Amino acid sequence: MAERAGIWEQGAEMASKSPRDPRQAARLLEPGPVVLVTAQFRSQPNVMTAAWVMPLSLDPPRVGVAIHPSRFTHELVTRGELFVLNLPTLDLLEAVHRCGIVSGRDVDKFVQAGLHPADALEIDVPIIEECVAHIECGLAERLSLGDHDLFVGDVLAVSADDELFTDRWQIADDSPLIHHVALDLYAGLSRPYTARLEREEGEES
Ligand SMILES: Cc1cc2nc3c(=O)[nH]c(=O)nc-3n(C[C@H](O)[C@H](O)[C@H](O)COP(=O)(O)O)c2cc1C
Repeated sequence: MAERAGIWEQGAEMASKSPRDPRQAARLLEPGPVVLVTAQFRSQPNVMTAAWVMPLSLDPPRVGVAIHPSRFTHELVTRGELFVLNLPTLDLLEAVHRCGIVSGRDVDKFVQAGLHPADALEIDVPIIEECVAHIECGLAERLSLGDHDLFVGDVLAVSADDELFTDRWQIADDSPLIHHVALDLYAGLSRPYTARLEREEGEES
């Protein structure tokens, strides 16, 4: 049994739950790592913060990002059919927030946020030099599912920091990845837990 602490323990003991607005489903699932999406069309690159990002398939490797049609990035990915999910760390928090509240239609966010474009491995869309990992994608499909569209990407190349990511994130006492909680509130993962199941009698190892 994992050790429980603080507000989590109190919440579990009180076990009081109330019905919520269905829109809260997204908020409940939200604390995955935040990414910076880069896209480009006709030599105009842009960067946008996104929290609604998900793995969709291992074989073929595919990921998805939900993007509202009002975003400049929506237009760039639709036209250019390529995008990169760049993984930022907590030292980039200010840049991450800035890229999530201003539009590339109005400003050059690379300049304003102090981010540097660099060549990707496979595609003609810049990666962000300051980020620790990059998932380069070709647009496989765009699905209209509600007020956001799901951009499904075929993963064409992946690069990642060798110390922070081996075959998984090296999370010791904390994680440098950024998780979005709400509005301007972000969090880091404070510690990892390993799930250990007791072996049933007769079960093979
Ligand atoms: C933490 C955070 C997460 C966000 N996640 C998303 C997202 O998943 N999808 C989306 O369409 N917009 C998301 N946004 C909003 C866009 O980043 C924002 O509208 C941005 O200004 C769009 O930039 P663009 O017009 O240059 O594409 C998020 C904003 C923040 C601050």
